Amino acid sequence: MAKYTVVTMPGDGIGNQVLPEALRVLNAVGFDAEYVHAEIGWECWRNQGNALPDRTVDLLKKHKLGLFGAITSKPNKAALEELKPELRGKGYVYYSPIVTMRQKFNLDVCMRPCIGFAGNPLNYIRKTSTSCVEPRIDTTVFRQNTEGMYAGIEWTNPPENVRAALSSHPKFKAFAGVPGSDLAVSVRVITRNAARRIVTAAFEYAKKRGFKGVTICEKPNVVRETSGMMEETAREVAKIYPGIALWSTNIDAQLMWLNKNPEYYNVIVASNLFGDILSDAFAGLVGGLGFAASGNIGEEVAVFEPTHGSAPKYAELDPPIVNPIAMILSAAMMLDHVKEDARAARIRQAIADVVREGKVRTYDMLRLAGGAKAISQGAVSTTQMTDAILEKL
Ligand code: NAI
Ligand code: MG
Repeated sequence: MAKYTVVTMPGDGIGNQVLPEALRVLNAVGFDAEYVHAEIGWECWRNQGNALPDRTVDLLKKHKLGLFGAITSKPNKAALEELKPELRGKGYVYYSPIVTMRQKFNLDVCMRPCIGFAGNPLNYIRKTSTSCVEPRIDTTVFRQNTEGMYAGIEWTNPPENVRAALSSHPKFKAFAGVPGSDLAVSVRVITRNAARRIVTAAFEYAKKRGFKGVTICEKPNVVRETSGMMEETAREVAKIYPGIALWSTNIDAQLMWLNKNPEYYNVIVASNLFGDILSDAFAGLVGGLGFAASGNIGEEVAVFEPTHGSAPKYAELDPPIVNPIAMILSAAMMLDHVKEDARAARIRQAIADVVREGKVRTYDMLRLAGGAKAISQGAVSTTQMTDAILEKL
C-alpha cells in the first residue's frame, strides 16, 4: 500500500491538461502515493446540479489531501441555461465548488508563494541609472480564506430587520433615505480564531524559512473594527515569536511598495480580499498565472491548486500550450505539507534549472499571444515543458 492517497480533481478546461503533468513529476521524484480521481466543476453542475459531488467530498474527507486543477464557472443565468433539461426548474442553484470546498472543510489558510526563478523573462526588473537589475523576489502571501469580505453575507435591498440593525449605527444615517433597491451591503466578518490561525501560519513559515519579519497588511486606520482585529491579533501572535519582527503596512501603500521594493517582503499576511489582491499583484512580478501556485490548508484537509482558472480558449488545443509550472509548483507545496521537503526541493530546483537555461519556454514566457500558432513561434507544448523538468530531475 502506498504511503499517501491523493484525491485528484482535474476539473475543467486546462485543469485536465496540467494536472497529469504534475503527477508525472511526483512519480519521477518517487513520491509514494496512489491517486483517486474525483469529479468537480462545470460538467458536474450540468449533469448533476452540483459542481462538488458528494463522492468528491467523501473522498476528501477520507484521504485529507487533494490536488485540484481548475474549474469553469459562469453567472447564474448561464448556469441555469446550461443545466441538463431534466434538471431545469427544480430549484438547483450553482455554487462555486472551490468556495464550497473551502467552507466545508474550513480550508482557512491560503498560502500563495510568489517566488521568482532567476532568468524568467517575465520577472520584475528595476531600471537604475546605468542598467537593469532583477531583484530576487521571495514573497509568500498568507490569505485568510473563509471570511472577511468573501464571507458571502450580503444583500441588495436588505430585509427590514437588517436595515433596522444597520440604522442603529450612527454612520448609517447618511444612507437612511436610500431606497432598498438602490442599496447593496456586503458584510466583512473577521473572527479572532481565524485571524490567529492565519497569522500563526505566516509566523511558522517565517520561522521555517529563517525570515526576519512578517508583514500584516490591512487598513486599520479606516476599517477600524475588522482590520483592527487582524492587526491586534497579529501583535498578540508576534509575542510568541520573539526572533521575528512584525511589520504593518496598509493595503494601498503596500501595492505602491511592491512596485518599488518587492524584495523587502518575504511573508505577508492579510484578510481574504486584501490577500487575494496582494497575491495576484505579487504573482505578476514573478511570471503571472503560469507560475502562481497555492495551498488551501485546513486543520484536517488540504487542497493544492494553481491560481489560474480553466482558460477555456486554450482547453481544446492539441498539443496543449499552457504552462504546467503553476500546477507542478502546487504539487511541490503538497509535498512540503506532508513534510516531503527533499522531494519538493528537487522539483523546484529542476524548474529553476529549466527556467535559467532558457531553452524551453511555454508561450506565456515568450510573451506570445497564445493559440495554436504559439508552437510554430517557438513555444514548447505543456508536455514538452514537463519533459524538460523531468530531464533535470
Ligand atoms: P484563467 O486563469 O482561466 O485564464 C486567464 C488567462 O491567463 C488565459 O486566457 C491565459 O492567457 C492565461 N493563463 C491561465 N493559465 C495559464 C497557464 N497555466 N499558462 C499560461 N497561461 C495561462 O481566467 P479566466 O479566463 O478569467 O477564467 C476562465 C474560467 O476559469 C472562468 O470560468 C473562471 O470562472 C474560471 N476560474 C477558475 C479558477 C479556479 O479554478 N481556481 C480561478 C480563476 C478563474
Ligand atoms: Mg484571485
